[in-house]
Amino acid sequence: MIQKVTDAEIQKQKDISARIKELNNGKKLTACVVTLGCVQNENDSERIRGMLTEMGYEMCNNSKTADVVIFNTCAVRENAELKVFGFLGALKNIKKERPEMLIGICGCMIQQNHIVERIKSRYKHVDMIFGTHSLHRFPQIMYSALQKRVIDVEDTDGYVAENISHVRGSNVIATVSVMYGCNNFCSYCIVPYVRGRERSRTHEDILAECEGLAAQGYKEITLVGQNVNSYGKDCGEIDFADLLHLVSEIEGIERIRFVSVHPKDITDKLIAEMASNPKICKQLHVPLQSGSTKVLGDMNRKYSKEQYLALIDKIRTAMPGLAISTDIIVGFPTETNEDFEDTLDVVKKVGYDMVYNFIYSKRKGTPAAKMDFVLSKEEIKSNFDRLVETQAEILHEKNMKLQDAVVEVLVEGKSRTDDTMLTGRTTENKVVNFSGSPEKIGEIVNVKITKAATWALTGEII
Ligand code: 5AD
Ligand code: SF4
Repeated sequence: MIQKVTDAEIQKQKDISARIKELNNGKKLTACVVTLGCVQNENDSERIRGMLTEMGYEMCNNSKTADVVIFNTCAVRENAELKVFGFLGALKNIKKERPEMLIGICGCMIQQNHIVERIKSRYKHVDMIFGTHSLHRFPQIMYSALQKRVIDVEDTDGYVAENISHVRGSNVIATVSVMYGCNNFCSYCIVPYVRGRERSRTHEDILAECEGLAAQGYKEITLVGQNVNSYGKDCGEIDFADLLHLVSEIEGIERIRFVSVHPKDITDKLIAEMASNPKICKQLHVPLQSGSTKVLGDMNRKYSKEQYLALIDKIRTAMPGLAISTDIIVGFPTETNEDFEDTLDVVKKVGYDMVYNFIYSKRKGTPAAKMDFVLSKEEIKSNFDRLVETQAEILHEKNMKLQDAVVEVLVEGKSRTDDTMLTGRTTENKVVNFSGSPEKIGEIVNVKITKAATWALTGEII
């Protein structure tokens, strides 16, 4: 059974937003939402912006001048948490000068008691503290915060809240959440504790959102969730491969991507759907985490090095030319230098198109937090650097092959660093910057790569 927030509750929240708008009395007020972490958090921030817009706030990017500032936080690694404490500290004096400003902190960090206690005692200028399960109550939280500090953290396996409007960052590409939470309990990971158990949206709700996006002119949809291939398992819904197929039948949607999938859940049915469906992009993210079977066991990943490599072989046989990316953790407590060699071996054998590498970060309350380290910090850092170098060589070789090639790119908008240039991605998820007219935004165009480098591809529309 899907535990949905009732329509009446969502309506009550919309009424509160309208009341806040009335109270603000036509004043021109601004709000800034800062997001840390993954695409799921980015999707939640779009909903926070949607609710703030309904309250009459105009979105801005300046946390120092905004009337409302919300930090949507990530708990996956310590450095993301430290960043947030830095942001909060920097706002202390600004709040003294402008006491009417409202500061909120939400997201994964807030589902941890020790963090809430620290904010309560040391960051008294924060007006709103709310967890991942309280997001749909944000209007009520804002309303109460206009009078006094609010703390709303619920310890639950989680709900599914529908019909909260989004303010999206693009008119061309969009993310759609299909499921929330995770049941995998990898031993290093905090996500199952802060995001709750796996719960799926109904396929009717997902398709309605995708159809709405198509009607607004969106061309590419990324289906997101902590483990999308578990979609439907919690509630007897259709499975993820069927869902992909239904989304691909929506007219106007030209490309579909999805993240994230656990290797153990990549089924033959999913591979067959990807191989036969031209709308599904030629890209798959297959998190490795470690190449050592021993470390994978300690991580509770449920596959061995050999099983992972066999899976990649199977995927590549079905889809030659598919771009494969991965996540790798270096310095897991039980990892030895030999184990790390196994990781490098997998990286070389697979030849990834992109590797997201992370140094292991101890997360309070996870099983790995109790394990002793085998390697020193210096050894871990040196292994990390070797991994970055190895991957850079692989990527360099791959990108050099694209020199003078013609690739199909969905034009997403102007380049962030140079607004005379356009930017977009190939079906393999490679970012390309190129010259061309802004009228092309939203179209799939042919781009000739005129300059291929390790970390960037530049071209021109032909
Ligand atoms: N330390 C370092 N990296 C982590 N990840 C998850 N938990 C941790 C941790 N404690 C990484 C994994 C995951 C990605 C989203 O973040 O590689 O796939
Ligand atoms: Fe964390 Fe593992 Fe779940 Fe991914 S699959 S969110 S790494 S517990």
